[in-house]
Amino acid sequence: MSRWRRCGAALFACWAIAASGAIAANDDSGAHYPSGAASFQANCAVCHGRDGAGQPSLAPPLTSYPARYIAAPEGRRQLALTVLYGMFGDVVVEQKHYNFKMPDFARLGDEALASVLNFVVFDLARASEDSTPLNAAEIAAARGQPLGADAVRQHRAALLAALGLAN
Ligand code: HEC
Repeated sequence: MSRWRRCGAALFACWAIAASGAIAANDDSGAHYPSGAASFQANCAVCHGRDGAGQPSLAPPLTSYPARYIAAPEGRRQLALTVLYGMFGDVVVEQKHYNFKMPDFARLGDEALASVLNFVVFDLARASEDSTPLNAAEIAAARGQPLGADAVRQHRAALLAALGLAN
């Protein structure tokens, strides 16, 4: 019972953020990836917030780790796997726990997913412009090897260990 109540509270929090996002001024005008920005606000901001700051205990911030992921081949694959297959279970970002369910966005095309991830990496997490942006072929490659949401989380744990980030 309490689990359902928690879920209800989470959905309400998501709705409240979505409602406030709908009336907020559009501050993505200077984005390097404007179509990724529009897709992020439509599909992701409900949980991660318009600026990617996340929500305590529920959705992790996207403002730091993705900049580390983009510089490593397995990190690039991790970004693609997360949006293609979702992620489920406890994760840690900068010593804080998050445990909710990230839905999959496989219905969005390879180009659209590359562009929303590039918005996350370069506009929200401010990765160095020396890093190569993700492209549709990398998303397509990850789409060819389906994984479950829990396996995506395990892949993330191995990646964080390899990058020397705490998990
Ligand atoms: C319903 C809420 C929800 C929505 C909508 C959502 N996410 Fe997530 N996202 C999460 C949760 C929860 C996690 C952590 C998963 C876990 O707890 O196992 C996560 C994790 C992530 C991560 C991994 C961060 C890390 O440190 O490894 C990325 C990247 C990400 N989301 C990007 C996106 C993008 C891009 C979109 C839109 C296309 C999106 N998310 C939409 C809830 C959401």
